[in-house]
Amino acid sequence: MTRDTSGLIKPLKLGRFNIKNRIWNSPLWTRTASVEGEITDRTIAHYEARARGGCGVITTEACSVDGRHTWKTPQIAIYDEKFLPGHRRLVETIHAYNIPIICQIHHAGMFGNDPVSPSGVKCADLGKVGEFIESRVLTLEEIEEIRDLFIAAACRAQAVGYDGVEVHGATAYLLEQFFSPHNNHREDKYGGSVEKRATLAAEIVGGIRAACGPDFIIGYCGADCDWVDGGITRDQTTVLVQILEKAGLSYFDLQTDGTYETFHRIECSAGYRRQPIGQFDKTAYYKSILHIPVTTRGAGEYDPEHWNTAFLNDECDAIRLGKQLLADPDTANKAVSGDWENIRTCIKCGNCINSGEVMPFELSCAVNPGMGRYEKPVEPAWVKKNVVVVGGGPAGIEAARVSALRGHKVTLIEKNEDIGGNLYVASLPISKETFMNYINWGKEQFRRLGVKVMLNTEATPELIDSLQPDTVFLATGGKPAMPPIPGIDNPKLIKAEDVLKGKAEIGRNVIVAGAGEVGIETSDLIMVKYQPESLTLIEMRPDLGMDMNPMDKAMLFANGALFPTHFQNGLRPMVNTRITAFREDGVTAVDAEGNAMEIPADTIVLAMGYVSEKSLAEKLSGKYDVKVIGDAAKVSKIVTAIYQANLFARSN
Ligand SMILES: Cc1cc2nc3c(=O)[nH]c(=O)nc-3n(C[C@H](O)[C@H](O)[C@H](O)COP(=O)(O)OP(=O)(O)OC[C@H]3O[C@@H](n4cnc5c(N)ncnc54)[C@H](O)[C@@H]3O)c2cc1C
Ligand SMILES: Cc1cc2nc3c(=O)[nH]c(=O)nc-3n(C[C@H](O)[C@H](O)[C@H](O)COP(=O)(O)O)c2cc1C
Ligand code: SF4
Repeated sequence: MTRDTSGLIKPLKLGRFNIKNRIWNSPLWTRTASVEGEITDRTIAHYEARARGGCGVITTEACSVDGRHTWKTPQIAIYDEKFLPGHRRLVETIHAYNIPIICQIHHAGMFGNDPVSPSGVKCADLGKVGEFIESRVLTLEEIEEIRDLFIAAACRAQAVGYDGVEVHGATAYLLEQFFSPHNNHREDKYGGSVEKRATLAAEIVGGIRAACGPDFIIGYCGADCDWVDGGITRDQTTVLVQILEKAGLSYFDLQTDGTYETFHRIECSAGYRRQPIGQFDKTAYYKSILHIPVTTRGAGEYDPEHWNTAFLNDECDAIRLGKQLLADPDTANKAVSGDWENIRTCIKCGNCINSGEVMPFELSCAVNPGMGRYEKPVEPAWVKKNVVVVGGGPAGIEAARVSALRGHKVTLIEKNEDIGGNLYVASLPISKETFMNYINWGKEQFRRLGVKVMLNTEATPELIDSLQPDTVFLATGGKPAMPPIPGIDNPKLIKAEDVLKGKAEIGRNVIVAGAGEVGIETSDLIMVKYQPESLTLIEMRPDLGMDMNPMDKAMLFANGALFPTHFQNGLRPMVNTRITAFREDGVTAVDAEGNAMEIPADTIVLAMGYVSEKSLAEKLSGKYDVKVIGDAAKVSKIVTAIYQANLFARSN
């Protein structure tokens, strides 16, 4: 199909550069630096993959300008000469692709290892439900020192060859704290009126312009508003950006709205599934009041057609993709060439935020197993094999795709009417439909790579024998757990997945047995879709959502989120409560003290976890090279299923 991509490559000048296209990477913490803050080979590989993938401009993640107040470890540092060799190698690598590279410079303020802020206003710690960060108030001398540290960092960046810097003024980090009337109550030259609250940012931008000369690119990222009561509004940001433009700014980057305290207000339900936030009307406004380019973040908007239209309409100058470029580093090349169906679109599962930001793990992407691992292309196999994949969930899709890329003959067998497995079920709770992106992409890959798909076909040993495989990938996933509780085999009990699939009748008084992620998401859907009189959510463990990622959980229960409103509308959580029997009219249970109770209901939904389904493994073992992957090996998450499939298929 011929597509209009003229907006994506519409000419654009940034400083002295003609930018080849308007799809750039968004600054995003890769967690690939050394513990001390040095750029590593993995950092360089990450950014090089996105340059190779066609981005018009590369911007680094936030680099620390002040060694005393860094963000989480490891954060790339630029506060000392000793960090420059790594920066130099990164710059040389990206310049080999004939595109500019910008260094984002950052001070963590109250989110740093030594929390400091303009006035010591407490801030919610989003990764930890109900906890607040207390910070020390900066003195006037310290503020002036921080200003000079920003300018010194920009000079270092220029010395190693960066084409510019981007001053991080968003997401409640130090500069946004200074600009916010909610956080900044100072009465010296850095606080008070909107102009005075903009002083620190203006001194930094002006200072960099004076020190680095007219050709050096200086960007500033800030938010339109922060949704905090008494916080930043568009009127105030209007004043800020006009001051910064006068101080010598080269571009303004409109970050997403909100702060760590208010992100959850973005449309969300059980878990935070961000919908496209709609940045282009806002960038159009800032373009109307500024004379410099205005860029923005993907912010959940991953449709190249929408980007193209926004550029053609002059509503925005460039889109900077964060998560989408984790999911597919080649997005820019594919978008510009019109090969849009080939883009592996981010499913907005939040795994990256949890793995990379909240948990002490490495940043990983659920759908891109190469992310953070050098993103090496799949190599062709020396010996071509006959590969059979059983199961069309994410593990099966990835095993089949990689096997076909290696040149093997691939047949995938799926007992359901379509591929997707539990990834399809995972797409059914409220606002998780984006999970379908991966299934649709998988189908497209199968079409391009010639994978034979047998739907509505249960794999049996006989069927597999008839296909004479060299290798069998057993990706048969998980099945609902049925713990040995009296009455659990009553056919009137409903499985959570049948509720999600719309196959169940829901009465007025409901029990959901199990309050892990599936039980919570199912309860959420029941409350919204069926509005029962009561829903009792029973959990044996001491808390709801104990298998959920901390960020998902924090978003779920945050003030103003949807889920807590169910508590006023009949949802009654019961933790430390063990179901002892299922009956026609409810359940019997005991609490932590051993007190027995009866809980009546007309509908009982089972959400008691999943167990691996790998019964075929024994029947096939010894006959074929059988590789059990995904939930069939161990019930886990999409990221694990796809990574394991990728790893095993690459070496087959
Ligand atoms: C409601 C729900 C919400 C979830 N939410 C998330 C989430 O937010 N984030 C996350 O990371 N994970 C989530 N998960 C978990 C995630 O969906 C699974 O970890 C993932 O799908 C496992 O992939 P898999 O390919 O190993 O197995 P599955 O997705 O279970 O796929 C197995 C496939 O094998 C097929 N099959 C089985 N036996 C045979 C046979 N004999 N012949 C042919 N076909 C067969 C099945 O029909 C199925 O299609 C959720 C799960 C559920 C149920
Ligand atoms: C794990 C993670 C780390 C991030 N680190 C940064 C950062 O260092 N600097 C920054 O300006 N934005 C950072 N962001 C914000 C993203 O660049 C981007 O604005 C945001 O994810 C929304 O856009 P998207 O939908 O394109 O991802 C980060 C986001 C994530 C998920
Ligand atoms: S981990 Fe999930 S949310 Fe993050 S980039 Fe990958 S698909 Fe998107």
